[in-house]
Amino acid sequence: MSGEEAAAAPAPAEQTPPAEQQAAGGGDAPPAESQYRALVLSGFGGYEKVKVQVRRGEPSPRPGELAVRVRACGLNFADLLARQGLYERLPPPPVSPGMECAGTVLALGEGVTDRQVGDKVMVLARAGLWQEVVTVPANQTYLMPDGMSFEEAAAFLVNYITAYMILFDFGNLRPNQSILIHMAAGGVGTAAIQLCKTVENVTIFGTASASKHDSLRESGVTHPIDYRSMDYVEEVRKISPKGVDVVLDPLGGSDTSKAFNLLKPMGKLITYGVANLLTGQKKNLMAMAKTWWNQFSINALQLLHLNKAVCGYHLGYMDEEFELIGGVVAKLVSLYNQGKIKPKIDSVWPFEQVADAMRQMQEKKNVGKVILVPELPKEEPKKEEN
Ligand SMILES: NC(=O)c1ccc[n+]([C@@H]2O[C@H](COP(=O)([O-])OP(=O)(O)OC[C@H]3O[C@@H](n4cnc5c(N)ncnc54)[C@H](OP(=O)(O)O)[C@@H]3O)[C@@H](O)[C@H]2O)c1
Repeated sequence: MSGEEAAAAPAPAEQTPPAEQQAAGGGDAPPAESQYRALVLSGFGGYEKVKVQVRRGEPSPRPGELAVRVRACGLNFADLLARQGLYERLPPPPVSPGMECAGTVLALGEGVTDRQVGDKVMVLARAGLWQEVVTVPANQTYLMPDGMSFEEAAAFLVNYITAYMILFDFGNLRPNQSILIHMAAGGVGTAAIQLCKTVENVTIFGTASASKHDSLRESGVTHPIDYRSMDYVEEVRKISPKGVDVVLDPLGGSDTSKAFNLLKPMGKLITYGVANLLTGQKKNLMAMAKTWWNQFSINALQLLHLNKAVCGYHLGYMDEEFELIGGVVAKLVSLYNQGKIKPKIDSVWPFEQVADAMRQMQEKKNVGKVILVPELPKEEPKKEEN
């Protein structure tokens, strides 16, 4: 779709500033400076379904909202699932995806008193943040700590809030315990490892592709395991015959049962994803059926006899829990300011290369977070040498 067509295409109401709706509705073409680019998912399918489109209109925040000039956006595993129609929290296409970004405040809506124009903010939303300019409720924005880059800020909220809440609120991780972290080199995995290091003497088992094991050891994983060539359950049992205290399960299907069986008495399983659904560029019905068929289930009486806990976590369903999430962000900002956590950036891609960014994650190449930026920063011109 060309930029012109895109400008005429209707955008979902919840992410469309009023001025843009007027522009899209016809009339004179607005001046060039009121154009901005957005990534738009045109329909479910492969990488080609997400494209850059040009939108028109001045940012016009409603009461309680902010307009933000976006400088960096986070790519999350859920965005890969969403592209295939496997993430129910994304509104139907055509839609701009993106659940986190960072940038500077451009304008304030009526009644917003705790933000200033020019503030650097991190933003969390259900969708719609992969755009050069966004309007968002002020209570979904968080001030960036001093010294944090926009790329780090775009890698902060989803991964660290998730890792913090599953490790500490549900997992109750304590000194001298052991934990199994799957997808340990990815965005949430990296955040979880850093947070585990804030607790004394935690033994970390981490699964990841073999090429990432040096990086896992450097970041503090005690026992990296290549799940692609080994049986990770056997590997954990060889080292720790009784199993582990906490398992973080982002995989689903048969891996949830394996996780539960690996728990020691009083152990906790936190299930928070279904990565096993993703096997290729497009939706795979066989993988869906297999994951569903192998779904773990247990009843209360069995739990009672086994002395284990099962928790489910989904940040996407907590979009009204401002106080709860705000409290977690405040703790994370404090840990960042103390130098205890720091987002690891795998790679930074301009909007035009969104397909390559998604491929980087889907082909299992990323170590840390994949970031999208409206534009790559221009290189400083080199000084001529005499
Ligand atoms: N419930 C929530 O609120 C919540 C919030 C955030 C994230 N999550 C979940 O947490 C998990 C991690 O998310 P993330 O955004 O941080 O992604 P990520 O871990 O950076 O994801 C990419 C990595 O996952 C691994 N992987 C495992 N199975 C895969 C598959 N089937 N296809 C592609 N890669 C696969 C690959 O690394 P290796 O092969 O090296 O392991 C790949 O490099 C996902 O399951 C996600 O849905 C849940």
